[in-house]
Amino acid sequence: MTAIDDAATATSDWLRRYDAAVAPVLPSYFDVIADRALGSWVWDVDGRRYLDLGSGIAVTNTGHRHPHVVTAIHDQVDRLLHTSVVLKHQPYIRAAEAIAGLAPFLDQPQVFLCNSGAEAVDGAIKLARRTTGKPGIMAFRRGFHGRTLAATTLTTAKASYQEGYAPLLPGVHIAPYCITGATSPHPTDAAAVDAALGDLDRMLATEAAPETLAAMIVEPVLGEGGYIVPPVAWLRGLRQRCDEHGILLVFDEVQCGFGRTGRPFAAEAFGVAPDVVLFAKGVASGLPLAGIIAGADLMAQWPNGSHGSTFGGNPVSCAAAVATIEVLAAEDCYTRALEIGARTMARLRALGAEAVVEVRGIGAMIGVELRDKATAEAVQARCLADGVLVLTCGPDGNVLRLIPPLTITDAELDHGLDILCAALGG
Ligand SMILES: Cc1ncc(COP(=O)(O)O)c(C=O)c1O
Repeated sequence: MTAIDDAATATSDWLRRYDAAVAPVLPSYFDVIADRALGSWVWDVDGRRYLDLGSGIAVTNTGHRHPHVVTAIHDQVDRLLHTSVVLKHQPYIRAAEAIAGLAPFLDQPQVFLCNSGAEAVDGAIKLARRTTGKPGIMAFRRGFHGRTLAATTLTTAKASYQEGYAPLLPGVHIAPYCITGATSPHPTDAAAVDAALGDLDRMLATEAAPETLAAMIVEPVLGEGGYIVPPVAWLRGLRQRCDEHGILLVFDEVQCGFGRTGRPFAAEAFGVAPDVVLFAKGVASGLPLAGIIAGADLMAQWPNGSHGSTFGGNPVSCAAAVATIEVLAAEDCYTRALEIGARTMARLRALGAEAVVEVRGIGAMIGVELRDKATAEAVQARCLADGVLVLTCGPDGNVLRLIPPLTITDAELDHGLDILCAALGG
């Protein structure tokens, strides 16, 4: 999919250089060479402007280059860039305090910082194994947890993520995710919950003995796997089984965290308290930062020095995180996420387009399931041609995911939806 075909454009020149210099393993959605961005908009090297309804995959929740975040980054760049674990620094402490403040469902939350979501997942596996003394991890079908080998083992969103990488991490079991709605084989949410928990219980009784399990790691909203919001009863069922068997419940909120669901974390939106929360993406508005939050009692059992990171909690990323959290609160992006979601879902549901199988979501995390991948790609290409970036997901590549910045205006959102609805044939 190429935005501009003219061989003389800056884009075509940069794409030639990209193909020659960049390892082809790296996927990318669009053949667009980004030059600059501001708020809800991105400009390419040919000066074309795009409305960003994907937020760099749920990262720029405060919009591109929010002035408060940019100022904090500039100020920090002029003071201190790096200490690693040699010295402690103020931005790490401030960021840890601010992030812990977003997790009131944990008792005395403490924070470990690293660089990427996958690294947070690997860290959580180590935390769980080290503190429980048990090896096993339960993850859930269609989950996406990242690209390191351990995170890849937990990742079944598409078969291709694991293909050719065996042997993977031992001790990992995959139970069904609770899929509801139009694509579920079950007629009601209650039936879907019963089926998913029933399958989980059978696994606990046979192949994955609870006394061998350190953690259940689950996305409280399924992201790459298709933007599916599970019933609260299923998450409560996981909590109950973890409590019963001394298993840690880990919420991977890398994609759904930092305001997307209308609360800082989905755990709060659902009213289900995990033992551990993993975050990344939206935390620092585009600078690399990720981490693990857990109660002080659990963190105290993870021996000093048994985990660490050279770049994790870099001062500039930490300063960006503090500023991001300030913007989320000051501009009430939490309420705005709910408004964006309601406006978007109402518009798409009213459209009644034949290609649309289901519109679903929570807050500003909306999945539009289309009848097939070819339709999704055609809609995406049409939106791109009309200057709107729309991402896809799901094991069959047929779900459009709408994850606009939480700072998007109604006028911008409506402009994007006009183009999307036209592409959907409404
Ligand atoms: C739920 C979830 N977990 C983990 C990851 C991996 O994050 P990263 O790409 O920062 O390693 C992702 C990335 O999309 C994700 O959506």
